[in-house]
Amino acid sequence: MSEQKVVICKDLKSELQDFLSSLKYDKLFILTDTNTKEKCFPLVEGVSAFQKAPIFVMEAGDMNKGLASLIQIWTILSNEGASRNSLLVNLGGGMITDMGGFAGATFKRGIRTINIPTTLMASVDAAVGGKTGINFNGLKNEIGSFYPPLCVFIDCEFLRTLDRDNILSGYAEMIKHGLISSIENYTSVMLYDVDTMNYSYLNSLVGQSVAVKERIVAEDPKEQGIRKALNFGHTIGHAFESLSFRKERPILHGHAVAAGIVSELYLSHKLCGFPMEKLSQVIYYIKEYYPAFFFDCTDYDTLYELMTHDKKNEGGIINFTLLGNVGDVRINQSVTKEKIVESLDFYRESFGV
Ligand code: GLY
Repeated sequence: MSEQKVVICKDLKSELQDFLSSLKYDKLFILTDTNTKEKCFPLVEGVSAFQKAPIFVMEAGDMNKGLASLIQIWTILSNEGASRNSLLVNLGGGMITDMGGFAGATFKRGIRTINIPTTLMASVDAAVGGKTGINFNGLKNEIGSFYPPLCVFIDCEFLRTLDRDNILSGYAEMIKHGLISSIENYTSVMLYDVDTMNYSYLNSLVGQSVAVKERIVAEDPKEQGIRKALNFGHTIGHAFESLSFRKERPILHGHAVAAGIVSELYLSHKLCGFPMEKLSQVIYYIKEYYPAFFFDCTDYDTLYELMTHDKKNEGGIINFTLLGNVGDVRINQSVTKEKIVESLDFYRESFGV
């Protein structure tokens, strides 16, 4: 699988234009959604290669990341005469880069895609690394493929259109990247004040964060080994997220991941010796910025069951990624139900819920 190029932009329009001018293609198509078209497209509409490009505008929202939307994209590509030599530019959050990536992977057995993420979550995670897909049969990302884009253009100017909750949601993945990589990355992530929002400094932190993901994906593109490091915080985080949907009080993915990081750091401390003082530091940071996730002990069986259904499990065993320290990743850790319950108690005690 070829590697994607990632550009942390200083001047998005000219970098994009230069890149497109260096490519040979017959037609260029743009995929975006209703919100992004209004708030973010103005930042790129001056790019000359975009002047005559057909723009497909999908309804915004993860519930629209399904087969019906995918069929619409295939239909437009086909009716507009897209060939194997065409380009599809995905401009938007993870919903657009996931679905556009999958449309690109499947149309005529694969056309080249370019991702321009417009949310922090997509910039540091969804748009990078080649996972593409759609939701199906009530399950998130049930159908998909590994299909890296040709290039990802990241520009934190887009992030000015995001509210604080969505910034925090993406920032949880940056906390994860800090924890799984090195003390330098971890320290810079822990020192950033999300409320001050210095966008140019955030751009450099995003660069570091994406480099962590790129390194891991280059080593293990199809998640057979070390790419599982990127699942840190997500086994319990996904269960929190699904519980919030079942209770009809949905929380953002990254907020669930932040809560999952707390519980999984507790497991890391108990089972792999992750240092207590760093655990306290992360809890302090997450408490300072993120809302607490409310649940009680009557939810424990549901949470456990949700964890057993995580598609990353193998042979019915809940498969955790834990840490022995910052940057010391231990994949394929099995954990008893008793310890998982303790980690849920630990979250509730730490956050007073
Ligand atoms: N979001 C985790 C991964 O790309 O592997």
